[in-house]
Amino acid sequence: MKCRVCRGPAVVDVRRHNANFCEEHFLKLCRDQVEKAIHDHRMLEPGDRVLVAVSGGKDSLALWDILLQLGYETDGLYLGLGIGDYSSESGRFATGFAKERGLNLEEVDISSEYGFDIPGGSRAARRAPCSACGLTKRHLFDEAATRGSYDALATGHNLDDEAAVLLGNVLRWEHEYLGRQRPVLPAGDGFPKKIKPLVRLGEREMAAYCVLRGIDYMVEECPMAEGNRHLAYKEALNGIEDRSPGTKHSFYFGFQERTSVLFAGAGDSAGRPTRCDRCGAPGNSAVCAFCRLMERAGGRLPAAPEPVPVELGATRSNGQGSATT
Ligand code: AMP
Ligand code: FES
Ligand code: ZN
Ligand code: ZN
Repeated sequence: MKCRVCRGPAVVDVRRHNANFCEEHFLKLCRDQVEKAIHDHRMLEPGDRVLVAVSGGKDSLALWDILLQLGYETDGLYLGLGIGDYSSESGRFATGFAKERGLNLEEVDISSEYGFDIPGGSRAARRAPCSACGLTKRHLFDEAATRGSYDALATGHNLDDEAAVLLGNVLRWEHEYLGRQRPVLPAGDGFPKKIKPLVRLGEREMAAYCVLRGIDYMVEECPMAEGNRHLAYKEALNGIEDRSPGTKHSFYFGFQERTSVLFAGAGDSAGRPTRCDRCGAPGNSAVCAFCRLMERAGGRLPAAPEPVPVELGATRSNGQGSATT
C-alpha cells in the first residue's frame, strides 16, 4: 500500500477517493478538505472568531485541532448534559484537550446552571432523549455564540452524520428540514452563523485523524441514542457505501448542488419574529421550546448576573461567561 502523493508507505486507505495515504499526506488531506468546505460554502473569512462546540468525541476535537492549524481564532464550548458517566467521561476528554494545548473552553453544566438534565428533561416533556438533547444543545450553542459575539458556531457533524440525516429527511419528505440542511446557515434574526466544516470527511477518517495526531477522545457513543433511527440510517448507508464507495458523498453533495434549491426557504421560521418572554432568545413563540422543556422538567434559568460597577481603568468583561482552560 503506497501513498498516492509521495509513494511512501501508506497508513490509511480512503476508498471514496480510491487512494491510500501516508501519515503526512493523510493529515494534509483532512486539512485540505476542511479548507475546501470552508471556501466552497463561504463559511468563514480569515481572522474570524469561531466558537467550536466540543463533545469530547473524535469529530469535534479533530475539528478544533484543524481550525487551529488553519489559523482561526477559536474557543471551545462544552455542555455537560447530565447523562451519567457518559457526560462526566466526555467532559474529561474535552477539558483534557483544551488544557494540554492551553485553549479556552467554556463549560456549561445544565444540571447546576439550569436545574435539569437530559434524562429527566426528556421524561418530563415526554420527548425522545435525542430530541430533548438536540433542542437543548441548539439553544445553548446559540446563546453562547451570541453572548460571546463569535462570528460563527462550528459543530463536528461529518459526512456520515449529514448523509444519514438527509436520508431520514428524504424518507419522510421532511421539506422544512430539507430546506435547512445546508453546511452553513447564515446569521440572522438574532441567531449566530452555524457551520459544519467536516462535511467532506467521514467518520472513519476522523478517527484515523485523532489517532495520528495523538488526540484522546471519547469512543463510547451516547447510551441514550441506542436504537434511534439515525443509527439505522447510518448502518444502511454503510452497507451501500461498502458496495459502492463514494455513494454517501454523491448523495449529500448531489443534494446540495442540484436539489436543495427546491426546498430553499421551506425551513425558514414562519410567523412574526419575536423574543422568548423568559430567556429573551429569538424565535416565533412567546415562550421558546427550551424554556418550555426546562420548566416542565422543574428547571430554572440562571439568575441574571449582578451589574458590576464600572471603575475607571478597570478591565472590561468580554461577555463570555465562565471560561476555563
Ligand atoms: P451529536 O449531536 O452528538 O451528533 O453531535 C454533533 C456535534 O454537536 C458534535 O460534533 C459537537 O460539535 C456538538 N456537540 C455534541 N454534544 C456536545 C456537547 N455535550 N457539548 C458541546 N458540543 C456538543
Ligand atoms: Fe444527546 Fe445522547 S448526546 S441524547
Ligand atoms: Zn505521502
Ligand atoms: Zn426561552
